[in-house]
Amino acid sequence: MRVAIVGTGAIARGSHLPALTALGAGQPLEIVAAVDIDAAAVAAFCTDAGIAHPYTDLGLMLTEQRPDLVTLATPPRFHRDQTVAALRAGAWVWCEKPPCPSLEDFDAIEAAEGPDGAGPYAAIVFQHRFGSGSRHVKDLLGKQAMGRPLVAHCQTTWFRDEAYYSVPWRGTWSSEGGGPSMGHGIHQMDLMLDLLGPWAEIRAMAGRLVHDVETEDVSTALIRFEGGAMATVVNSVLSPDEVSRIRIDCERATVELVHLYGHRNADWRITPAPGVTSEEADAWRDFGPDVPSSHEAQLKGLLADLRAGRRPRSSGADGRKSLELVAALYKAAFTGSTVRAGEIGPGDPFYGALHGNAPGWAPEHRERSAEVPA
Ligand SMILES: NC(=O)c1ccc[n+]([C@@H]2O[C@H](COP(=O)([O-])OP(=O)(O)OC[C@H]3O[C@@H](n4cnc5c(N)ncnc54)[C@H](O)[C@@H]3O)[C@@H](O)[C@H]2O)c1
Repeated sequence: MRVAIVGTGAIARGSHLPALTALGAGQPLEIVAAVDIDAAAVAAFCTDAGIAHPYTDLGLMLTEQRPDLVTLATPPRFHRDQTVAALRAGAWVWCEKPPCPSLEDFDAIEAAEGPDGAGPYAAIVFQHRFGSGSRHVKDLLGKQAMGRPLVAHCQTTWFRDEAYYSVPWRGTWSSEGGGPSMGHGIHQMDLMLDLLGPWAEIRAMAGRLVHDVETEDVSTALIRFEGGAMATVVNSVLSPDEVSRIRIDCERATVELVHLYGHRNADWRITPAPGVTSEEADAWRDFGPDVPSSHEAQLKGLLADLRAGRRPRSSGADGRKSLELVAALYKAAFTGSTVRAGEIGPGDPFYGALHGNAPGWAPEHRERSAEVPA
């Protein structure tokens, strides 16, 4: 399997390369090339990792190297075009979150995929869905072992300072795609959707309280799920005591995950309701061998799917659902309306851009928004 890494910054070095290296051991997998518009960065990356072919031109790399898999770790504004280019060259793609700046972009990616049952496919990096903890809890919830899920909390309360936002691609709709709802909270919201299934409606608020950015720096939302469960969501980059947290109250137990950037079995807690036997609660708490959530955990499944020609998790509709929720959160927040699943399609201002051209939030309204508190 010939793999190419596109974008050789922090996440490529910190997660893509280690995951590919770990999973490539003993398997016919070779990282044949890396691409970055920064020639010095890609040269250093290739030297450090022992990769033979550095490129500054994605198209040239695709033509010359014909990779089977491209892992994409560039800023979000490039995800659509680079994913489409790789798919058209016959490569599967594993694209970093957030998927791309709009649902319209995502649909263009899906349209470039190969036929079902063959591929190539593009999967989004949502590593928190993977690992033994989320797999076990998804299984318990799927079987309704703890009864129906009723109430949930989904919290991404992180802290990002001015230095973080001094990187040119951050803080703008066109480049980063959104604020913490899109760039940070999408991980927890994706996990919540993976655990609780389809959502039905959302109401939301967004604010720009600290940072001088185009996007929000905090958002809150209320979500009702198709199954009836109701959730609160908080996405913030203003929270000094940082935490990522999901809590789901079911009829017969509360499940809670508390972590920051990744979880292991010990980060999950299951509290039974009165009347549940200790044998049953102990069975729920048996998560099996510890597999931390990680890029490696997701990539392992993706490589197996690639070899088998199967659609991977987190691609197609399964990859789109979190972006749709984020688009709906923005629409609900910026219009003050309740947004229903499936309603944002072509013709809706929030289909082509997550700011939906809303006064005070769209880039062209930025000056006014600086005077009027959001
Ligand atoms: N899954 C996670 O937990 C996680 C964590 C951090 C970042 N990310 C995501 O990974 C992506 C990259 O983030 P990062 O922190 O590594 O950013 P970064 O700025 O450290 O690296 C981005 C790299 O892409 C290169 N680049 C920019 N434009 C390019 C282009 N057109 N073609 C090729 N290369 C280009 C830059 O030169 C840079 O080397 C973002 O989408 C980010 O949200 C995901």
